[in-house]
Amino acid sequence: MTDDHDQRNDNKGSAPRGMSNRLTNYGDADFSLFLRKAFIKGMGYTDDALSRPVIGIANTYSGYNACHGNVPGLVESIKRGVMLAGGLPVDFPTITLHESFAHPTSMYLRNLMALDTEEMIRAQPMDAVVLIGGCDKTVPAQLMAAASAGIPTVQVVTGPMLTGSHRGTRVGACTDCRRYWAMYRGQDIDDNEIAEVNDKLVPTVGTCSVMGTASTMACIAETLGIMLPGSATAPAVYADRLRVAEDSGSLAVAMARDGITPDQILTPAAFENALRVLLALGGSTNGLIHLTAIAGRLGIDIDLDAFDRMSHETPVLVDLKPSGEHYMEDLHRAGGLPTLLRELKPLLHLDAMTINGRTLGENIDAATQLIDQPVVRPFNNPIYARGGIAVLRGNLAPSGAIIKQSAASPELMRHLGRAVVFTSLEDLAQRIDDPDLDVHADDVLVLQNIGPRGAPGMPEAGYIPIPKKLAAQGVKDMVRISDGRMSGTAAGTIVLHVSPESAEGGPLGLIRNGDMIRLDVEARVLELEVEDEALEARRQQQPARKEDAKLLGYRRLFMEQILQAEEGCDFRACRPEPHCRVPRS
Ligand code: FES
Ligand code: MG
Repeated sequence: MTDDHDQRNDNKGSAPRGMSNRLTNYGDADFSLFLRKAFIKGMGYTDDALSRPVIGIANTYSGYNACHGNVPGLVESIKRGVMLAGGLPVDFPTITLHESFAHPTSMYLRNLMALDTEEMIRAQPMDAVVLIGGCDKTVPAQLMAAASAGIPTVQVVTGPMLTGSHRGTRVGACTDCRRYWAMYRGQDIDDNEIAEVNDKLVPTVGTCSVMGTASTMACIAETLGIMLPGSATAPAVYADRLRVAEDSGSLAVAMARDGITPDQILTPAAFENALRVLLALGGSTNGLIHLTAIAGRLGIDIDLDAFDRMSHETPVLVDLKPSGEHYMEDLHRAGGLPTLLRELKPLLHLDAMTINGRTLGENIDAATQLIDQPVVRPFNNPIYARGGIAVLRGNLAPSGAIIKQSAASPELMRHLGRAVVFTSLEDLAQRIDDPDLDVHADDVLVLQNIGPRGAPGMPEAGYIPIPKKLAAQGVKDMVRISDGRMSGTAAGTIVLHVSPESAEGGPLGLIRNGDMIRLDVEARVLELEVEDEALEARRQQQPARKEDAKLLGYRRLFMEQILQAEEGCDFRACRPEPHCRVPRS
């Protein structure tokens, strides 16, 4: 029996095999094919149809997932594209993930979706696959799967939703969700108005309309070259989006014929380009974890310190919320991602190959150049002079922590404050709004035990709410520190991904109320001003971590396999030995 990985490698550069793609099942390849065809003919296919290159389409529609509400139309358009190019499209379901309907967290389930997608690609005969992702964790899961499964792959995204209007003010999910909720907590708006806003924030299907994780990952996928040029930004309900889908279907047939596999596209140069774009977008901090996970599937390590050096010379140019003002549909009107890539040209590897057979540089040159658009700033007039994300080190984060500096308050970037500690999500929920909570505006809010293993699944609770009594006094931002994540749509002076996490014995878990914490973003420092001996004494008193032996199923697999943030929170068993590090500076 041929090993799947070997079989994939055999497929490289060879003619599409269509339905005979898989050789075995019963130890008799001819009988396996005979049976496969007999069953699928039950769907009404002819021998002619079944002799064509088979293009799988990962269908991630779900009634729970409004970000993927347009998937049925995209499937239809992809199928049309496949058939116009002479292939046979076959769609199949995989797990889908919506941020709001993924308990305990979508990050907890991302690796499950990656495993599902990878194994469904392996299990079923297909010469190429088109993956339809959109909502935050779906594109990373699919690209992790594609990198591991190794067959020709085209990524498609569902595209951003349009913006809505609330009493004459333009609103979009979900930066404005947080803004209005903060106003409500601060008693600036009443029950009626918050209910009214709730109707307006998500006016169409599609992904969040700001530079959150979904938009970030769409732009990253286009930069990596695994998605058609210009396709990251087309809104979910535009005809442009359907045309992208049709073209992607046709391209998948060509890629099947040419044997273009993901490892030929997702190269170290492509990842360096993607890291640049992540910084220049003011993109989601989650994007860094996801890029690390995708690269890790191909044996490529992301070097956090080299990424930070890259940040010093990569300004934020895209003026989108939460770092700026505009929304995704505006970026699309401004020419989409190619407008940004054109500005970044001196910093990019323009010879990186993409799925349409052209280099990144050729794709940039082929895109229409708009003069005078308001969304992407020229390189010499950035909205933020440095990259969106900075990497912090210090005794509080020996393996690193990050901050989205472009969305932080300048006056808090250098701060010494007293720790106010919450030991878990439950503790936070119980005490944050307690009128007797001993907290002041210049304190540092610390949330422990929300790391990859801690919660588990690294919830986006790093955006700790401002205590109600301070919010009512007009406090808008405070330094907040955790081992968790933050939504890409959130803003504030928020230190995230502190590693090692509390649940792994990291120093974050040793902080006590009243300890002094020093943050200096310019110096890249995150320090706990407590003597080493005192910390060691606290460490000795920490109760030992409970054994996971009683856990069963996916939870057990997760707890046994999950890696830390700087390793992409992938499963240990899914990462081959690294053979290179990027950025290579
Ligand atoms: Fe799906 Fe924001 S909730 S993209
Ligand atoms: Mg999000």
